[in-house]
Amino acid sequence: MNNFSFDHLPVDPLPAVLAGMPKAELHIHIEGSLEPELIFSLAQRNGIAIPYTSVEELRKAYAFSNLQSFLDIYYAGASVLIREQDFYDMAWAYLLKAKADNVLHTEIFFDPQTHTARGVSMEKVVKGLHRACADARTQLGVSATLILCFLRHLSEKDALETLEQAMPYRDLFIGVGLDSSEVGHPPEKFARVFARCRELGLHIVAHAGEEGPPAYVWSALDVLHAERIDHGVQSVKDAALMARLAKDRIPLTVCPLSNLKLCVFPTLAQHNLGALLDAGLVATVNSDDPAYFGGYVNDNYLQTFAATRLTAQHAYTLARNSFEASFADASQKRRFIDAVDAYFDAI
Ligand code: ADE
Ligand code: ZN
Repeated sequence: MNNFSFDHLPVDPLPAVLAGMPKAELHIHIEGSLEPELIFSLAQRNGIAIPYTSVEELRKAYAFSNLQSFLDIYYAGASVLIREQDFYDMAWAYLLKAKADNVLHTEIFFDPQTHTARGVSMEKVVKGLHRACADARTQLGVSATLILCFLRHLSEKDALETLEQAMPYRDLFIGVGLDSSEVGHPPEKFARVFARCRELGLHIVAHAGEEGPPAYVWSALDVLHAERIDHGVQSVKDAALMARLAKDRIPLTVCPLSNLKLCVFPTLAQHNLGALLDAGLVATVNSDDPAYFGGYVNDNYLQTFAATRLTAQHAYTLARNSFEASFADASQKRRFIDAVDAYFDAI
């Protein structure tokens, strides 16, 4: 592959390259794509009271100091989701944004416990989301799959029950993840449920090293056998862990705007995405909760590149990494990576 430099050009074409390049998104919580406008319209449709009088007032509440301050509002926002059609509408709205951002493949997280705890059935959640994914393939040409996440602030027993409830829909999701409040809830708390998921042939991912220490990334790898780490940005504090992640090519699904909004880094200029890439890690760029953090995946690329020293070479690596890190099958991966190469060969 060529080395890319646009230094000789009068106008920086990098933003257009980033926006147009084929990419996968591997870290998006579908409940975090619920825009304030959709929260209000679903609240009205379902007769649910929400403690805000306008979209503007709700948006103003999106000022977070850490992960927990965000999660409190995020779970409250999800309370407007009741019917299967609500889950469809939420996912479809995200998939249209993904299409506009040249996302060819997406692996979407969902948090069933947030809904089943309110009496919404697993069936409605999974079937609504899955129908939107199926329509994305036929109507948008976007490949979309689902990953069921367990909430780590709840017990392992609750996670095991959730897995049991999801069994009738086993073919409608490809893997499981671990999310919610990280510190105080290490991966090893969920050793048994993830062992069961591995027996079921599910892919395994886990949030680790977002706010939590490198020890949580080690246990996500060694206890849960995570194939990818979500966030993982705290790994830079542990040289042996960095070496392990590089050697085993364990991808990190990094979410720069999320890290900025949740105060993991004080500014985007201080984000360590470049350091992770330069250390040879398979880092990727993702949106996490785009409705809450000020942007979808292309906004993450554009703002991070504008704030840092990342180059066209990094853009190529990130696009390639996004597909390499995906759970697409080998032939689909080959086609996606060929599309990335063809795109960069043509610029
Ligand atoms: N759930 C939704 N977004 C999350 C994040 N950034 N970290 C942990 N759990 C989440
Ligand atoms: Zn996340």
